[in-house]
Amino acid sequence: MTHVLVERRGAAQLIRMNRPDKKNALTRPMYAAMSEALLAGDADPAVRCHVFLGVPGAFCAGNDLADFLAVAQGHEGGLEVWSFLEALAGARKPMVSGVDGIAVGIGTTLNLHCDLTFATPRTEFRTPFVDLGLVPEAGSSLLAPLLIGRQQAFALLGLGEGIPAERAMAMGMIYQVVDEANLEAAVFSAAERIATKPAGALRATRDLMRAPREELFQRIREEGAVFAERLKSEEARAAFLAFMARKKG
Ligand code: COA
Repeated sequence: MTHVLVERRGAAQLIRMNRPDKKNALTRPMYAAMSEALLAGDADPAVRCHVFLGVPGAFCAGNDLADFLAVAQGHEGGLEVWSFLEALAGARKPMVSGVDGIAVGIGTTLNLHCDLTFATPRTEFRTPFVDLGLVPEAGSSLLAPLLIGRQQAFALLGLGEGIPAERAMAMGMIYQVVDEANLEAAVFSAAERIATKPAGALRATRDLMRAPREELFQRIREEGAVFAERLKSEEARAAFLAFMARKKG
């Protein structure tokens, strides 16, 4: 089964995470497929924006914890995640996301890179990095304080507090809350609006608005170095094993 579906919808390139039985937990091949799609869409003049969607009730449950456990146990981690984060942070075209339900870890931090995020009322954004013995990734230690202020960012990234969609909107973390039934229509309507704008002016506007590129890439690298160390910590190994054991019980 293909766990990432990529298709064109008018001028939008849709990247849909599609691993419903695992709540869209991301595996290495899924990251690779999403990087490839971002780079291909950026290179295709007919594509005016990228759209991220999940499946009903699950945008994304974060990195696959079995993959994390493998690294914690000494296996090679691969570079797919880091290539994806670079493609995401470096994407040249507007990105719109539609989030319904579970949005954990990268399922939350991915949206911090998006230009417009729509979420349903049942969505909760959560980044349990610290509880997993880990640290924030995807530049979120830089982007979250910029977007929602340092204290709210600490509640999200430090305490792992779940943030419901309405609160996320009030904080400025997302653009709009829309009902499940209207989510995809809202997302594609935004994508169509983007496509009607002069491409050069919109690109220049977006470039001016985004956090300084170099600082963001530098932060992703810094986070990555600490993250890689933390993955091998006893705290992380114990947390991954606890998750696996929970499933067996
Ligand atoms: N990695 C691997 N498998 C995952 C996963 C993840 N991040 N998240 C969910 N799954 C799997 C579960 O193991 C389960 O698989 P199984 O049916 O083969 O046992 C399946 O997806 C459904 O998950 P389940 O926990 O039964 O669904 P739920 O609706 O009760 O809870 C979550 C959903 C996302 C709240 C819960 O699964 C969870 O906390 N997952 C871990 C999230 C996480 O810590 N991600 C990493 C962030 S860095």
